[in-house]
Amino acid sequence: MDRLRRFAILGSALLVTCALYAQKPYPTAAQLSPTPPMGWNSWNYYGTKVTEADVKAAAKAMVTSGMKAAGYKYIIVDDTWAGKRNAQGIIQPNSKFPNMPGLIKYVHSLGLKFGIYSSPGPKTCAGYTGSYGHVKQDAETYAKWGVDYLKYDLCSYGKIIYKKAGHNMAKWRAMQEAAYSKMHKALVATGRPIVFSMCQYGTNSVWQWGAKVGGNLWRTTGDVRPNYARIAHIGFNQAGLAKFAGPGHWNDPDMLEIGNHGMTRNANLTQMSLWSLLAAPLIAGNNLADMTPATRKILTNRAVIAVDQDPLGKEANRVWQQGPLQMWVKPLEGGAKAVGLFNVSYNPHMMTFKLSMIGFPADAHMRNLWTHKNVYAHDGKYTVKIPRHGVVLLKVTR
Ligand code: GLA
Repeated sequence: MDRLRRFAILGSALLVTCALYAQKPYPTAAQLSPTPPMGWNSWNYYGTKVTEADVKAAAKAMVTSGMKAAGYKYIIVDDTWAGKRNAQGIIQPNSKFPNMPGLIKYVHSLGLKFGIYSSPGPKTCAGYTGSYGHVKQDAETYAKWGVDYLKYDLCSYGKIIYKKAGHNMAKWRAMQEAAYSKMHKALVATGRPIVFSMCQYGTNSVWQWGAKVGGNLWRTTGDVRPNYARIAHIGFNQAGLAKFAGPGHWNDPDMLEIGNHGMTRNANLTQMSLWSLLAAPLIAGNNLADMTPATRKILTNRAVIAVDQDPLGKEANRVWQQGPLQMWVKPLEGGAKAVGLFNVSYNPHMMTFKLSMIGFPADAHMRNLWTHKNVYAHDGKYTVKIPRHGVVLLKVTR
C-alpha cells in the first residue's frame, strides 16, 4: 500500500513537471516587441466620441488601405470604453462598446491585434473607470477577452501619488515604478502575451526605469497635437534618448497625427521621417476609413517604415545642428545609415550634407526615401534645398 502511494505521488509529480515544461514560457520583451509597435489608436481622431462601429471601420480600413500589408497591426481603443464594474467587480464596457469580446474577435479575424486602455488610478484621464483596486482582476479580464496590448495611463493616480509624495521626486518615482510594475506582473500572470505601453508623459525620466518595470514602450512627452510646432517640439526634444531604446523597450514620443486636420504636407512628412529615425512606435491616429491618397502614401511608404522597423533597433541621434537646420542619423542593419535633413524654419534653406560627417566615403550610394530616386554627391558633398518645415530623408550605403 505504501509503495503504491509512493508510486502515485511520484507519477503525479512527473505529470506536473511535464505540464510545466509543455506550457509556453512568457515571451521576453524582445520577443514581444522586437521592433517598435505599429498600429492605430482611436484617440487623436475620435477622442472621447469613439464607438465600436468606428473601431470596426478602422480595422477594416487598415486591411483595405494596404496599411496591414505595410506592417501596421494593433487596433487600439483609447480612453472612454470603460463602464461600471459588476457585482463581482469585473469591469464592463459602456454602451458605446456593447460587445467587447465580439469586437476583439472581429479584429483578430482580420489578422490584426487588439489594444485597450486603462489607468492605475480610480479614473482615466477622461473620467472613466480605471483599474485602481482591481489590477489583477482587470488583467485577467483583458486576457480573457483576447487583448494583445495595454496602454496604461497615469491620469488620476497622479493625485494619489501627490497626496503621499508631495514634491518628493524620489517618492514619485518609487510609487510610479510600483504601480506600473504591479500591472505588468498581473499581465504576465495571465500567461497571455500583452504588449505593455506606459503613459505617464515622460515624467521622472521614465526612460531610465521603464524597461525595468516591464514597459515595452513608454511615452517620453506630453500629448501630441496636430500641428507642426508641436510635432517639432516633441520630436526634436528626443535628442539624447537613443541609448534607452532597443528591441523590446522603446521611447514613445506619442502617436502619429499624419492626415489629421491642422497638419500640413511638410508636417506629415516631418513626423513620419523623424518618428522612423527615432525608432518610435508608428501608431496612426487619423480616420483610416476616410483618408486621402496622399496620407495613405505617407503612412505606407515601405522604405521609410523599414527605417523605423530596422532589426538593429537603434534610435537616431542628432549629429549636427546649425540654426534651424538639423541632421539626425540612425544606424541600420548591414552598416547602412538613414539620414534626416530637417529645416524647422518658416523659410526654405539650402543644406549641405558631407558624407564624411557619417564616416562614409565620397562615392557612397544615396537614395531619397520620399522621391524614391538616387541622389549624387560632388566631392563627397550633397547640397539640397529643404522647404520650410521640411525634410529630406536619405538612406546611405557604402
Ligand atoms: C492622456 C494621454 C492621451 C490619451 C488621453 C485619453 O492625455 O496622454 O494619449 O490617452 O489621456 O484621455
